[in-house]
Amino acid sequence: MNIYHLSTECYPVAKVGGLADVVGALPKYQNKIKGISAKVVMPFYNKPFVFDHDFEIVFDGWIHQGGNMLQVQVLKEKTDVLGFELYMVRIPGLLDRDNPYGYQDESFQFLAFQHGLLHWMTAMQIRPDVLHCHDYHTGLVPFMIENCPEFGFLKGVKTIATIHNGEYQGWMSWGMANYFPAFDQYKWGLLDWNGMINPLASMIKCAHAFTTVSEGYLQELFESFKGLETLVRDEHYKAHGIINGIDTEVWNPATDPMLDFNFTKKDVFKKKKMSKEKLCKEYGLNPDLPLFGFIGRFATEKGADLLPDTVWRSIQQNYGGLNIIILGSGNTYLEDRLSELSYSFSNFALDLGYKEYLSHKIYASADFLLMPSRVEPCGLNQMYAMRYGTIPVVSYTGGLRDTVKDISTGGAGINFTYPGVDDILHAINRAVSMYYKKDIMQGLIKANMSFDFAWEKSAEKYIALYNQ
Ligand code: ADP
Ligand code: GLC
Repeated sequence: MNIYHLSTECYPVAKVGGLADVVGALPKYQNKIKGISAKVVMPFYNKPFVFDHDFEIVFDGWIHQGGNMLQVQVLKEKTDVLGFELYMVRIPGLLDRDNPYGYQDESFQFLAFQHGLLHWMTAMQIRPDVLHCHDYHTGLVPFMIENCPEFGFLKGVKTIATIHNGEYQGWMSWGMANYFPAFDQYKWGLLDWNGMINPLASMIKCAHAFTTVSEGYLQELFESFKGLETLVRDEHYKAHGIINGIDTEVWNPATDPMLDFNFTKKDVFKKKKMSKEKLCKEYGLNPDLPLFGFIGRFATEKGADLLPDTVWRSIQQNYGGLNIIILGSGNTYLEDRLSELSYSFSNFALDLGYKEYLSHKIYASADFLLMPSRVEPCGLNQMYAMRYGTIPVVSYTGGLRDTVKDISTGGAGINFTYPGVDDILHAINRAVSMYYKKDIMQGLIKANMSFDFAWEKSAEKYIALYNQ
């Protein structure tokens, strides 16, 4: 079975968040299953992430976007270290950018990516068994292969759509339709939601099946989904919740090259202590106090707006009895407020920016990882933390509620139901009191390291879905 994953991110080539981790791992694990060939198609960006690719040009052509002629090249990654074949669509002037997101003309950018990749497949007569689209950036593909005569060769190819984050839907005005490849105008309703073109809605309508990255998140979408709840309820028979795994080859504390001290369950207490001491020294923190970490985008869905008050009040109320380290970036107001706090409190450290190596060090060194998310379709951070012997302190939402159980119900983490500062502080206080009970802490560290979040099971679930 031939599967092509379509995505704007893929670790280790380009990463903004968890989408990259999933698309960089799922095909690798699918390829370990007999009879499966999974490949990835992504845009070509200018700036290498942690992997400097070496490629050859396998296709050169042109597409029309409205009145504009765009050159489309497809580059194939030459090394075979990724565990899957990787194709990158280069469209000079539109896709060859430093970052995947954040541009005014994103609608044109993602439209061109989808148009370009389908043009390449059609021209080269590549007909996959399954096109697996990830998030709204590739959400128009199921519509296009059925309704654009230009891609007639691909008509009937099965499509699966995975919703990693329903907060972003890619709304655009109907004026953008002029830049689409010509399509059967009678079918316009398959693109429309409330008078706008909505790629995420179109992907749910047109794909043969759609998935969310956890069962908990799927249940939440039936209740509330930024205006799409009636759509998912109507299309519920196509919906499947499949929890993400983690790449246990990349995220392995015993071999992770980004750690200062590698460890297994056997020497975890000693090595985690050494890691924590080193990190605390670098950031001027006190290694004898419990260390809480937060890693992520400063976005409301992550509860990042709750961080400044959480830092301020937890440090005040605990009379200096804990450390907090935050790694992330995003909302500039929050960046400024947190920066001010980091100047005021010696036991609060802030590192602004995206730093892959530092994230690994924090997962390995912290005692607790804080995730006050309001919306968390799956969340990978908590699983990385657990694998690295760090106790997750998380809100009870989406994938967090599927992966982290509270110690009071036999789990090895801490849950709080409402992502508000008072509830977070209560959870932090529970964590701090636990920190000083050595036996309990050690038991929890080992329990967390023993959870199995490997990709194999979920990779099989996707294959079963393709087979259906
Ligand atoms: P999301 O994709 O919504 O941001 P996930 O929990 O699925 O959330 O994945 C986030 C991924 O991005 C994890 O691999 C996490 O370690 C990483 N990450 C997030 N912010 C940063 C940062 N500032 N520096 C390094 N890694 C980060
Ligand atoms: C999105 C979600 C996150 C999920 C990731 C990978 O970015 O916000 O919860 O883990 O996709 O599926």
